Amino acid sequence: MRATVHPGGFRGGQTAVPGDKSIAHRWLILAGIADGRSELMGLPAALDVRSTARCVGTLIGRAGGAALEGWASEPPAAPDGDRSTANGPRPRGALLAVEAQGRGALEGSPSALDCGNSGTTMRLLAGVLAASPLDTVLEGDESLSRRPMERVAEPLRSMGAEVLTTDGHAPLRIRGARLRGIEYETPVPTAQVKSAVLFAGLEAEGETTVRERVPTRDHTERALEYLGAPIRIAPGSVSVAAFRPPGFSGAVPGDLSSAAFLIAGAALTGCGLTVHDVGLNPTRTGFLRVLERMGVHVHLDLEREELGEPVGTLVVEPGESLRGTTVEPDELPLVVDEVPVLALLAAHAAGDTWFTGAAELRVKESDRLAGIVEAISSLGGIAGLEGDDLVVGGGGLNGGVADARGDHRMAMAMAVSALAARTPVTIEGIEAAEVTFPGFLPALVALGARVDV
Ligand code: S3P
Repeated sequence: MRATVHPGGFRGGQTAVPGDKSIAHRWLILAGIADGRSELMGLPAALDVRSTARCVGTLIGRAGGAALEGWASEPPAAPDGDRSTANGPRPRGALLAVEAQGRGALEGSPSALDCGNSGTTMRLLAGVLAASPLDTVLEGDESLSRRPMERVAEPLRSMGAEVLTTDGHAPLRIRGARLRGIEYETPVPTAQVKSAVLFAGLEAEGETTVRERVPTRDHTERALEYLGAPIRIAPGSVSVAAFRPPGFSGAVPGDLSSAAFLIAGAALTGCGLTVHDVGLNPTRTGFLRVLERMGVHVHLDLEREELGEPVGTLVVEPGESLRGTTVEPDELPLVVDEVPVLALLAAHAAGDTWFTGAAELRVKESDRLAGIVEAISSLGGIAGLEGDDLVVGGGGLNGGVADARGDHRMAMAMAVSALAARTPVTIEGIEAAEVTFPGFLPALVALGARVDV
């Protein structure tokens, strides 16, 4: 499917975004290994999250079918309460109740679990299955089958599980076993591998420690702490011991990584924007610090905690010109999902922007380094690679046609870049946005953007 986004029109205002994908994955998985009934609200209808729910539902032999059907068709709710003047949809998200009896009770031995496009589903589930009584195959779509899986297989093997990859990729075959705790230093900064090892550690004998040289998102640590697990968190390391999570109930905060596209729209057009009920975890706000350096001012108003995560309101101040900046390698893991949108924003800034040491971008849903260079070039801008460094020249984009190549974040970044382009931008494959941000185009339109589908 193609969509054409026209320059101008965007006027900002009030908005909210669907629930956080990273947080939803973790809590759905925790619900599947908990002892008792759990209720999760604010789940996004994002395809990736539905992949996790489907796999968890299959594993525990319930919770699938009807609940997921209803969820898939739920329309976004209208703005409510004192936000009734809001000009954007306020996605309410779905509620899912899961009844489970711990990992030992996982059953069904499905021949294969389909993780769709979702790397987080596959890697996190690998950690759970490593300590289950099951022999399971995890498979995914073409994009996921190209992504590296040895990085998660290796530590799980050293804990005692049998993990077979297909030349380092999916399909993965995992035969669970009685595990022993390990000390593991992640060779590349990745929250997915850290989380898989911690999930495995919940059923291991002795303590499991993960060390990371550079911090990555900490949703798993927060979730385990919130549930009362024996967890020790120190700078650069986290340790857990055996623990079976109790049932729980809570709401998933809005996804800041989805809000990033609307925030970029405001930054590009100089409009003000308020995002309500959004997750403000400091390991996810890195791109706001980059935006600050580019000349965009954002205020955070912390209001409450949900499921151990800070939640509040984010306000983008109206502004004007953008300037280039440099993102250093140690900063990259905390902005890893926002590089596509930051790069397209940088194409409209004054001066060059560098993303240094960005090799990890090559193994995301697509090779995002190549994709960004291709997209910016086909829209009339300047971008190039020097080894693993990406450089984007400022000066603006003409517009034109660009292909998302099946990558949701690329599709949304291109769409937003149109708001300040000289002529419209047509995005081939805009439907990829549903992977993370269901209702992305309607949210953009509610803020004034003109879009033809
Ligand atoms: C995620 C971690 C990041 C991120 C992905 C979600 C998570 O991947 O890119 O979209 O939920 O843990 P890595 O940890 O592999 O960098």
